[in-house]
Amino acid sequence: MDTMLHVTPSCTSLPDGFSIPADQLHPATTSNVVTLPVIDLSGSRDDVCHAILQAGKEFGFFQVVNHRICEETLREMEAVCDEFFELPVEDKMHLYSDDKSKPNRLFSGSNYKTSSKMYWIDCLRLTHTIPTGDSKNNWPNKPQRLREVFENFIEQTRVLGMELLRMLCKSLGLPLGYFDGDLSGGDMVLGVNLYPPCPEPSRMLGLPPHCDRNLLTLVLSGAVQGMEVFYNGDWIKVEPMPNAFIVNFGLQIEVVANGILKSVEHRVVTNMSLARTSVVTTINATNDCLLGPAEELLSDSNPPRYRTIMCRDFVRIYTEWLEQCEGDMKHHMKPFKI
Ligand code: OGA
Ligand code: NI
Repeated sequence: MDTMLHVTPSCTSLPDGFSIPADQLHPATTSNVVTLPVIDLSGSRDDVCHAILQAGKEFGFFQVVNHRICEETLREMEAVCDEFFELPVEDKMHLYSDDKSKPNRLFSGSNYKTSSKMYWIDCLRLTHTIPTGDSKNNWPNKPQRLREVFENFIEQTRVLGMELLRMLCKSLGLPLGYFDGDLSGGDMVLGVNLYPPCPEPSRMLGLPPHCDRNLLTLVLSGAVQGMEVFYNGDWIKVEPMPNAFIVNFGLQIEVVANGILKSVEHRVVTNMSLARTSVVTTINATNDCLLGPAEELLSDSNPPRYRTIMCRDFVRIYTEWLEQCEGDMKHHMKPFKI
């Protein structure tokens, strides 16, 4: 397979010069198999609203099926992602950048220059403005149908994400359109993650334990396992259901819900034989809106647990704080807690 990685998938041991803290590598529990809730969106609206809140409170994660994004859209998206990664290097090298501020870029976790850590991932990350703007101008122009297929996929996942947010409002007791404006009006980010086979999976991760810094994440995972979710002090493996989306709440929802919902830590592990591709779509608040606990959820007995600040400051301070803690998630929300 032709990938952008600077360590080839055929090498027999890991390259020198990386280190992943042992606690991040702690293997997932096998004795205690816990399955993420699977929510069937064709069920009654009341049941679905209830299930989303329950899953959110217990796991921060769930899978959705019968979500009305047709199979053809999913298969097309997967096919174009494969075609992209299979392009000759010279057709995608111009997209390659280690500059994290670039809205559209290709990068490799095996090539982080800013830290000693590396991860077994190649990622194409693209930004899609809301409403549709001209961000697409800097998207890849090969494969030729990529822009059309990606845009269709993003628009449909957005509809799904917004529907889930509305149902969440209903179950939380927030006005139905609470997230419809600025809270979901930020750029959407699309990540196509390729995790090539790894020679030493027990010493290498695809992605470190992290929480998503957005409002909501929808992941189309394909059939290969890899994602793990932190639950009751253990890592549990996510078994992807065919055609399902894995959904999780980001830190921005944790703040708005005043901690009723938690953004839960997750990571991606590697394996020796199979490449895994996932497509991650995120809904984000606009940079210049105020992010804080919803007043509707507050009372004397339920005071705000997080400060209210501009969303751009939230993301910046969180990123800086985590860098300072070297990715340690133990007190990751400390700068915002009251
Ligand atoms: C992410 C993420 C999971 C995956 O991109 O934030 O958690 O399966 N991805 O790729
Ligand atoms: Ni994530």
